[in-house]
Amino acid sequence: MSRPVDALIDFLKTEEARGHSHVYLDEGAREGLRDLFKRSRNPAPAHIESIPAPASLPPVSTEVTISGATKIEKLDSIRAQAATWAPAISLGTLRETMVFATGDPDAAIMLIGEAPGYNEEKEQEPFVGPAGQKLNDILKAMGVHREQVYISNLVKYRPSLPKQTTNNRKPSPEEMAACLPLVMAEISVVKPKLILALGGTAAEGLLGLEGSVGSMREKWHDLAGIPARVTYHPSYLLQSGGSNQVKRSLWEDMLATMEKLGMPISEKQRGYFLPKP
Ligand code: URA
Repeated sequence: MSRPVDALIDFLKTEEARGHSHVYLDEGAREGLRDLFKRSRNPAPAHIESIPAPASLPPVSTEVTISGATKIEKLDSIRAQAATWAPAISLGTLRETMVFATGDPDAAIMLIGEAPGYNEEKEQEPFVGPAGQKLNDILKAMGVHREQVYISNLVKYRPSLPKQTTNNRKPSPEEMAACLPLVMAEISVVKPKLILALGGTAAEGLLGLEGSVGSMREKWHDLAGIPARVTYHPSYLLQSGGSNQVKRSLWEDMLATMEKLGMPISEKQRGYFLPKP
């Protein structure tokens, strides 16, 4: 049975691995540690298996330290912290492999999904499964290649399930909140001209929006001073049997994106998925 002190030891090891030599202890944490110390000197009777958790453990730091001179170095510094991100790992609800981002650090467009799935975990790259293929097709229709945009996920680890094989689940609000500082740090480094939130879950976690994707799209939101648009998750296109209505709605979001960036739009592109006259 794991003891409260094991969680503390794990936390301190993670902090040490991140190069931190000090942790802040509030009065509650200090009291908890005094209690643990007293109990270690006067062990509880054998029939008591565990001791109560201290009033509060040291607070888990949610601060991302961005270091380096170039964007690549800065993103690498965020990637290194994401790999041992205590706020996410300490939840105990995410799998172990960290999946960071892919694409151009100087991209004008940043796309953010919810969390890696089976394929993404295997390849350690966001959007490489069927949803990723769909995303590549959408970008191609815009005249953009995957390598020219920056693609990331809000949650950096695949959400876990009991007896999990290829099945995935959406990240919880707690998992999204735990990883939010990482993606905000990425945004501050990449400084894209605009952000596309892919799907309602990502929009909820990033922008604090509630409701259907239908009610969130067709307008520009603000995310750290950068225009952000919500659109359907590419996997919704796969699930919805590729209905032309959903395809057209998503395509209108892409046209709005292209317009915002001043990209050329052909008549053919304007007409995609419109009902035939
Ligand atoms: N769905 C997401 O939100 N992200 C991925 O990387 C893959 C599928």
